[in-house]
Amino acid sequence: MSAADVAQPFHSPPAAATLQLQHRVKFYRSDAALARSVAEHVAPLLQAGGSALILATVAHHQPILSEICGLGIGPGTLQERCVIADAAATLSSFMYGERPDPVRFASSITELLDRTRAAKQTPVAAFGEMVSILWSQGKREAAVQLEQLWGELQRERSLSLLCAYPMQAFSRDEDHELFSRICSQHSAVMPAEGAFSCDGETAREIARLQQHAEALACEVEARKTAEEKLRRAHAELETIVEQRTKALRSLSLQVLKLQDLERRRIARELHDSLGQEFVGLRVILNLARRAPRDAQLWDDCDQVLERCITEVRTLSYLLHPPMIEEAGFVAAASWYVEDFSRRSGIKVSFQAGENVKVPDGAQLVLFRVLQESLMNVYRHAHASRVRVEVWEEPDRVNLEVADNGCGIPRERLARFNRDGTGMGVGLTGIRERVRDLGGTSEIISGRRGTTVRVAVPVPKDSIHDVPPEAS
Ligand SMILES: Nc1ncnc2c1ncn2[C@@H]1O[C@H](COP(=O)(O)OP(=O)(O)O)[C@@H](O)[C@H]1O
Ligand SMILES: [Mg+2]
Repeated sequence: MSAADVAQPFHSPPAAATLQLQHRVKFYRSDAALARSVAEHVAPLLQAGGSALILATVAHHQPILSEICGLGIGPGTLQERCVIADAAATLSSFMYGERPDPVRFASSITELLDRTRAAKQTPVAAFGEMVSILWSQGKREAAVQLEQLWGELQRERSLSLLCAYPMQAFSRDEDHELFSRICSQHSAVMPAEGAFSCDGETAREIARLQQHAEALACEVEARKTAEEKLRRAHAELETIVEQRTKALRSLSLQVLKLQDLERRRIARELHDSLGQEFVGLRVILNLARRAPRDAQLWDDCDQVLERCITEVRTLSYLLHPPMIEEAGFVAAASWYVEDFSRRSGIKVSFQAGENVKVPDGAQLVLFRVLQESLMNVYRHAHASRVRVEVWEEPDRVNLEVADNGCGIPRERLARFNRDGTGMGVGLTGIRERVRDLGGTSEIISGRRGTTVRVAVPVPKDSIHDVPPEAS
C-alpha cells in the first residue's frame, strides 16, 4: 500500500445509504471519462456519509481525486472516508501465477475495506481497475474470474461496485464473446462516451454496438495498413522487375553482339592461320609435284599439315571441348589452362583435388566459368599470375580462379552484387549458368586482384566417374 493511501478512523454515525447496491461496468475511451465516472460513482455515497475504496492505477489517482473534489467533496471527507490505493500493487498481492487466488483476494480487499471503517455499518462505493490491468496483460480469463470474485464480495459486503475497461481493449472481432461475458457479470453496463444517456437493456445494447464498431474500426485500420504495405511491396517489386528487364534486354543485346564478334574472330582465325597454312601447303605440293623425289618438300608438307591439325583441334576445343564428355572437366581444364598460359604468357597454376567428381550437367558450365574468368584476366586484370583450383566437398564441387591483377572497381562490383546489373555478358553469364544449376557464385575483388569462386551442388545419384588415368 502506498503512502498516498489515506485511511482515517470514522467516528460519526453512518448515514443511511440511499444508493442502489450494484456491480456496474463502465467502458471508456479517455482517461478523463474514466475519472469522471469514478467520481460520479463514489461522490453520492461520500456525500451521504458513506465511504469509498478506489483501487486505480497510479496514473489515474490524481485525475480521479480532482473530479471528486469538483463534485463538492472536501479534502476532509476524502481523508476521513476514502481509501485510494494502487491497483497494480493490490493485484499482485492476490495473484497466484496466472490466476487470482480467491482466499488472498478476499483477505486483501477485506483489509482495505476495513480501513475505510464505515464499511462495517454503511455501504461502500468501490472502484477496481485490476480487471482492466489483467485484460491489458492479455490475461483475459483471469479478468473474467476476478469479475466473479468481485461479484461475490459485492453481495457479501454490501458494496456499490464499479469496474471499468477502455473500449480500445476490445478492438478485435473475437473479443466479442468475452465482452458479452463481462457485460453479463454486471448488473448494469455504462457505455463509452459518445452515447446518449440511457440505462438498462438500451445501455447494454449500445455498449455491444460500440464494441462492434471498435472492432470494425480496428479492422479497417489494419486493412489500410496491410493495403499500404502491399502497395509499397508491389511498387518495390515493379522497380526490381523494371531493372531486371532492362538488364536482361541489354544482356541479350550484348549476347548478340558477342556472337557476331565470336564469329568474326573464328573467321579471322580460320583465314589467318588455317587459310595461310593451306596456301603454303598448296605451294609446297605444286613444288613436290614437279620434284616428287625431293624428301624435304614432303617433310615440309607433313609439318604444315601437322600445324593445321593442331590448329583445327585447338579451335574445336575452344568452341566445345570434346574431351569434356569422355575425360571430364578436370582434364579439359588442365589442357585449357596450359594452352591459355602458353598463348597469353601469364603464369597459371592449376590444382585439382584427387579424383574430383563433377556431375555431368556441371562439366560444361564449370569449363565456361574457367574460360570466361581466364579471358577476363587476360583482357582486364593486367595480372602476372593466376591460380586455378578445383576441390570437392561432400555436397558440392568448387572452382576458384584468382589473379593478382588490378581488381574490379568497387562501385561496379557492389552494384552487380546488389541488383545483378552493370557487368558484361561474362560475369553475368557465370552467375546465371551457376544459378541455373542451383549453385552459388561469388566475386571478391580488391587492389590485390580478383577471385571468382563458384560452387555447384553434387546430387548424390548423378556423379560422373572420372577414370584417374583419363587426363
Ligand atoms: N579479373 C578481372 N580483373 C579486373 N577486372 C575485371 C576482371 N574480371 C572482370 N573485370 C571487370 O568487369 C567487367 C565485366 O566483365 P565481364 O562481365 O566479363 O564483361 P566483359 O569482359 O565483356 O567486359 C570488365 O569489363 C572488367 O572491367
Ligand atoms: Mg569478360
